[in-house]
Order: sequence, then C-alpha cells, then structure tokens
Amino acid sequence: MTNQTDVPVLDLRDIHVVHRLRTGKLLKPDTIRAVNGVNFTVSRGEVVGIVGESGCGKSTLARVMVGLQKPTEGKVFFKGEPLGSSRAARKVLGRSVSVVFQDPATALNPRMVVRDQLIDPLRVHGIGSPKERLEKVRDLLHMVGLPQSALDVLPRQISGGQRQRVAIARSLVLDPDIIVADEPTSALDVSVRAQVLNLLTDLKATLGLGLVFISHDINTVRYVSDRIAVMNSGRVVETGSAEEIFANPKDEYTRTLLSATPSLL
Ligand SMILES: Nc1ncnc2c1ncn2[C@@H]1O[C@H](COP(=O)(O)OP(=O)(O)OP(=O)(O)O)[C@@H](O)[C@H]1O
Ligand SMILES: [Mg+2]
Repeated sequence: MTNQTDVPVLDLRDIHVVHRLRTGKLLKPDTIRAVNGVNFTVSRGEVVGIVGESGCGKSTLARVMVGLQKPTEGKVFFKGEPLGSSRAARKVLGRSVSVVFQDPATALNPRMVVRDQLIDPLRVHGIGSPKERLEKVRDLLHMVGLPQSALDVLPRQISGGQRQRVAIARSLVLDPDIIVADEPTSALDVSVRAQVLNLLTDLKATLGLGLVFISHDINTVRYVSDRIAVMNSGRVVETGSAEEIFANPKDEYTRTLLSATPSLL
C-alpha cells in the first residue's frame, strides 16, 4: 500500500522566510525573520513533530510545506525534484500534501453541507464519477468515525471535535502522501483532544501516510511523533527521535521546554 522509497516526499533545504510588516517604525524593524535557515524532511509512514513556543515560525514553515508561502530563500524538493512555481506544479503538490488547521470552523465553508465540502476537491481535480465520489466520501466519513447522517449537516450543526473530523476527512479526499497538521487539537475541548490525536495516528498507520504534527506542547508532540524538531526563533535548534530528545535533550531551549510544560493533551 505504501509507495515508500528513500526519497522524502518533502525536503526543505535552508529555508528562510522574511515577512514584511506594513508598520515600519524608527526603532522597530519592518521585517520579521519568521523562518531562518531550516532544513526539514518528511517521508511517507513517519510522524515528524515540530514543537516550539508561539511565534517561533511553526505555521510559517507549515505554509511553505503546503505551498501557501513562498520561501524568501532556500529550496523545496518535492519527491526529489525542485518544486516549480507553475500552477500545475502547485496542483500536484496540493494533491500530495494536505493540511489540517487549528480551527476547523474557519477551515470549512459554513454554508456548505459536509457532503459538498468533501466532494468538492474531487470535482476540482476531476476525479471519479459522481457515484464514485459519493462512495469515496462515505468511506472517508466512516474512516474518521462519523455517522453517514453527517453528510447532510452544516459545520455549525456539529461539535468542534466532529468538525475537526470533517476537516481531517477533507484532508484525506485526494489520497495525500503527507498531512501537515498545524495545532490540530488546540482549539478543541480538552475532552476530545486525545480522540482526535488518536484518529490522526491511526490514519497514519492504516494509510501509511506521513504526518507533520505541529504543536506548542512538547508532551502532545512526544505522544504522536517518531521524530521531533524543536524550533526557536525561526531555527530548528534540535532534532532527534522522540526518545532521544526526552531522555537526553542537548539544547538549552529544549530543556527549558521540557521543564516548563504541563501536559495540555
Ligand atoms: N503574514 C505575516 N505577515 C507578517 N508577519 C507574520 C505573518 N505571519 C507570521 N508572521 C510573524 O512571523 C513570526 C512567526 O509566526 P508563525 O505564525 O509562523 O509562528 P507560530 O510558531 O506558528 O506561532 P503560534 O504558536 O502562535 O501559532 C511571528 O513573529 C509572526 O508575528
Ligand atoms: Mg501557528
């Protein structure tokens, strides 16, 4: 089922992103180095966690991975080839690397029933007949643990946890190689966070996907990740297996994170 090869699906090399601010003041710089020389790879079948405090550049890096943000410097390799900037290249990337955001309420269209939200990407990419599309969507609902009756509801008619399940189903519609999940449980009620985390790791295991899991909470990241990258001020300050990082953190900042965080799972 997995088409795992030695070539990572995404290979980010020396990525820099500088955001320009509109409000340049005398004592304030009018640019922000959100990402400052990051190398990062992700392959099918692995969960890579990215952890770091608010503002360290996690979401900016995630946006580079899914093609929503052009790096100021550096190269993105997609399945071993430099990523082009054409529409066609972005479409191929969009199909292979999907994203789950923090807040499912904003990720979903409030006026579209779940059925249409899920069918839409198939339509856009011209995949399957109407019957096959509906079949696929039914399978996906089942996979993310929602009843078939969810097909006909609007996002506001279901709970936050269920909405995030719909968003996860949507991220799976095009059979991606990688899902980039940016704080996928932070906006959810504490009682459903573990369920959504378990869903993501189960999906990764059954589908052989790669998962990039982003969180400010190192304990949550540890719970799901094979490998962890610790970010601070736009840089990856430490990488290693989850065990290595917890047993023997080398970087001062990682130690601070480990000592300071209560579990927010
Ligand atoms: N579009 C933008 N324009 C200007 N500055 C931005 C933009 N996006 C992010 N920034 C700035 O870049 C830095 C990194 O932001 P980013 O959202 O990547 O951090 P983060 O690690 O995801 O934070 P959080 O944990 O709060 O989500 C921050 O200082 C942020 O204010
Ligand atoms: Mg963020």
